[in-house]
Amino acid sequence: MDFTQRYAYSFPTNIRFGAGVIDELPVHLNDKNIRKPLVVTDGTVKELPFFKSIINDLDKSGIQGVVFSEMHKNPVKSDVLNGGDVYNENKCDAIIGLGGGVALDVARAIALRINHKRDLFDYDDLLDGWKLVTNEVPYFVTIPTNAGTGSEVGRSTVISEDESHIKRVLFAPQLLASQIFADPLLTMDLPPFFTAATGIDALSHNVEAYLAKGFHPMADGIALEAISLIAESLETATFNPDIESRSKMLIASLMGAVAFQKGLGIIHSLAHPLSTVVNAHHGTAISLMFGKGLEFNTPGNEVKMKRLANALKISDAGTSVNDHINHMTQKLNLPQKISEIGVKSEHIGSLAQLASEDFCLPCNPNPATKEDFIRIYNESL
Ligand SMILES: [Fe+2]
Repeated sequence: MDFTQRYAYSFPTNIRFGAGVIDELPVHLNDKNIRKPLVVTDGTVKELPFFKSIINDLDKSGIQGVVFSEMHKNPVKSDVLNGGDVYNENKCDAIIGLGGGVALDVARAIALRINHKRDLFDYDDLLDGWKLVTNEVPYFVTIPTNAGTGSEVGRSTVISEDESHIKRVLFAPQLLASQIFADPLLTMDLPPFFTAATGIDALSHNVEAYLAKGFHPMADGIALEAISLIAESLETATFNPDIESRSKMLIASLMGAVAFQKGLGIIHSLAHPLSTVVNAHHGTAISLMFGKGLEFNTPGNEVKMKRLANALKISDAGTSVNDHINHMTQKLNLPQKISEIGVKSEHIGSLAQLASEDFCLPCNPNPATKEDFIRIYNESL
């Protein structure tokens, strides 16, 4: 890979990837006759110099970006409804999601909301809500600013209920971005902790997609290559970032989200309740459950674990994939025990209940019961 070049990909949508591609945004929007996009971002990114310069560059091209940044760390339905109101009040004509997974999830849900006025959770994937997505969706651009969720290439969005904080998945093929600008320069200044936690999330997407049930060699191939890219670059991107490591992480996280069209599994089923119950950051929750989830999935999947070990470049044949991941999260200075993020033994019953009902579990290669989850959470305390 030549990191001084820009690349064009079209799987599964139009992707511009490479250092500096963000400077193509004004021309792209002008070509589409877009004059007033709603720019959905989070409160942190909104204050960063590169964000202000993107808005300025739009302005110079006669495009008025209307910024919406009011959202929770785990976004809720009212965040989406408020964003839809801002879009309508300002008569916007497109949506740009610019940020991490949260901003992109909220942007995608707002894109759904604009011309679909039923209760937002009528479009819940578990209720086959995608069948109700029949109207036009605004022109939708995604611009990731970290290498983690890969939400820029997704067609679904996770939004929680305001009161219960239960996560609901909204999905529809029409929610795929019309255009992605994946520019590693936007990720250069991400602090070490978030680089590590989001990078581990990206790694988990590829690992879980590869292990997920079902025949999907294209997803498997993408996942294995992305795992190698992450193995080569996550530590450097975290502690000594350069364009090469940031580029590898950004494309690998995007690849993870392409691969997990195949499905995810128990690591995400264990992690999601930690966000629901103690409001844990998703990447941190994934990091805490990664080794345990892999350990659970090893029996019966030894051949796949060997291929994962190769992709992760594990040189010592005696080191298991789960031990390697635990070692990796230690080196990245990520928390090692769920008690460090506020989990107490009295939480374990509800965590296990939520995990056993999680939407990622059906794709996991090995079946898991509530008792399995109770044991795993107790061992992780
Ligand atoms: Fe994830």
